[in-house]
Amino acid sequence: MSHSGRTRTAGVIGWPVEHSLSPRLHGHWLDRYGIDGAFVPFAVHPSRVGAAVAGLAGLGLVGASVTVPHKQAVIPFLDAIDPAAARIGAVNMLRVTAEGSVHGRNTDIDGFLVHLRQSAPQWRADHGAQVVIGAGGAARAVLVGLATAGATQLRLVNRTAERARFLAADLDLAAEVVDWTDRHDALGDAGLVVNTTTQGMVGQPPLDLDLGGLPSDAVVYDIVYTPEETPLLGAARARGLATVDGIGMLLHQARPQFHGWFGVDPVVDEALKRAVLGEPSG
Ligand code: ATR
Repeated sequence: MSHSGRTRTAGVIGWPVEHSLSPRLHGHWLDRYGIDGAFVPFAVHPSRVGAAVAGLAGLGLVGASVTVPHKQAVIPFLDAIDPAAARIGAVNMLRVTAEGSVHGRNTDIDGFLVHLRQSAPQWRADHGAQVVIGAGGAARAVLVGLATAGATQLRLVNRTAERARFLAADLDLAAEVVDWTDRHDALGDAGLVVNTTTQGMVGQPPLDLDLGGLPSDAVVYDIVYTPEETPLLGAARARGLATVDGIGMLLHQARPQFHGWFGVDPVVDEALKRAVLGEPSG
């Protein structure tokens, strides 16, 4: 593929970076919209994160996606940071302005909420307890997203309760923390349950959570996207509950990034999903 002198270039920085799905995702959209653009994976060693951020502006890139382990590490090197990203303490999108300054944002919040509202339009942030399972990095964006959306009753359940208490305090959230042993009973008044742990991912055991006590109008969201339907989502579907999958969140978090870099608001559809998961589109 050849590029002109006007090519708009963005990339993803991570270490390692070869597992990132962002090149397939943004590459699919670049082809689809016929944009003179490129999206490149950059393996950035942790000792060179600052140089990499400065290098974006130096080379005239339009920005970058940020993946593990750099989502926190890039923050000191930014010229500006979106308030929600600052609260979460993680940035997954860098945008270089025309003047060459680098702005950080977290689009996981957008992906989480937009996909939730599309998949379960009946969901209301202030209807029932919003139960978040897990207290790692992924839980932070989910919790700030729910709080931003107007959740009035946040409940945190984590194997290590102490970590959940630390997280609630760190995010300055009035969240109830439930012990792991009481997790099944914490669902009786839930409007939403979100799994942010690694349980249910390919190679991991399913999340050990009995959905039997959930109200019939509750929504079950699993941010794990391999497999597309986790055992948790399968169990929810079998009970007739509304479900929201992780692959949709992944695709939707990329939308504001692509728009910010290339000026087109792209569609999330089945063809994109197949391109990202590496399956034939026909
Ligand atoms: P991420 O940043 O992707 O969220 P993480 O920080 O490693 O990843 O967090 C993983 C989450 O999965 C944590 O909430 C973790 O619980 P602990 O805080 O108790 O470690 C949870 N988790 C991992 N293995 C688990 C298991 N076997 N059972 C229950 N929760 C588990």
